Amino acid sequence: TNCILIGAPMDEGQRRAGCLMGPAAYRVAGLAEVLRALGHTVEDQGDATPAALGEETHANEAIHHLPEVIGWTNALAAAARDAMPRGMPIFLGGDHALALGTLSGVAAHAKAVGRPLFVIWLDAHSDFHTPATTTSGNLHGTPMAYAAGRAGFAPFPDFPAPVPGENICMFGIRSVDPAEHAMLEETEITVNDMRVLDERGIAAPLKEFLDQVQAADGMLHVSLDVDFLDPSIAPAVGTTVPGGTTFREAHLVCEMLHESGRVTSLDLVELNPFLDDRGRTAKLMVDLVGSMMGQKVFDRRTRSY
Ligand code: ARG
Ligand code: MN
Ligand code: MN
Ligand code: MN
Repeated sequence: TNCILIGAPMDEGQRRAGCLMGPAAYRVAGLAEVLRALGHTVEDQGDATPAALGEETHANEAIHHLPEVIGWTNALAAAARDAMPRGMPIFLGGDHALALGTLSGVAAHAKAVGRPLFVIWLDAHSDFHTPATTTSGNLHGTPMAYAAGRAGFAPFPDFPAPVPGENICMFGIRSVDPAEHAMLEETEITVNDMRVLDERGIAAPLKEFLDQVQAADGMLHVSLDVDFLDPSIAPAVGTTVPGGTTFREAHLVCEMLHESGRVTSLDLVELNPFLDDRGRTAKLMVDLVGSMMGQKVFDRRTRSY
């Protein structure tokens, strides 16, 4: 795979400073080296910069940094559209608001090539607010609703091809606000909250989703939020929620994603290196990308047990 690294040093989608150091931390933790060691080619495009700022405002006065987030959305959508025909873009965040742009560009590409787009959302949060419903005003809580085509996104750029609810699957969910809950109930989105993972394990529901992607010959966008992981193994995130996925569950997810052969684009979001403990979260995220890109002990596709 030709891996195209695109830094997205944005932190305007939330209020705690530090996420803008994420791309640098992934580079220091050796992301490109890990990918090359697995036999991939790596093009590091450096960091994206936001498009020209407008003066957009929204009736919801809680919202902050709206022009900045729109600037990033436009720039990252363009970067995603540009990268998709050449390989697999890996977006180094940056907070989760960057997915407003990456999903928009990836969806535009999928539409242009006439293939269905699927999204797997690995996160403690559903990020299913609209600008009208967010009470925190943090736009990192909105990208999944935007991609699912929920109304009310003015003044954001139009979403090119809303992702059908049945093509969206969430894992690790354990913090959903009431307005998000109400909107999610109106969709066909599969929400594998921690209760589902406790009862069924993570492999069975993941396999169901990946079979669906396979059957539709779909493209798959992976959005991995650091807070998908338990804070005890991944402290470097501003929005920790107890009870997250374990080291082993997370690697299993990534290995299964690799074996599916379906992953076409990836977001790494919410890493805040200022909150890290000697780089351990950055290193864990890089290891997980390794598993998603082929690192394994033995290959289950060629060896059975
Ligand atoms: N639902 C909360 C909010 O809107 C938390 C969102 C957290 N999102 C994230 N990408 N970490 O503020
Ligand atoms: Mn600022
Ligand atoms: Mn998130
Ligand atoms: Mn989150």
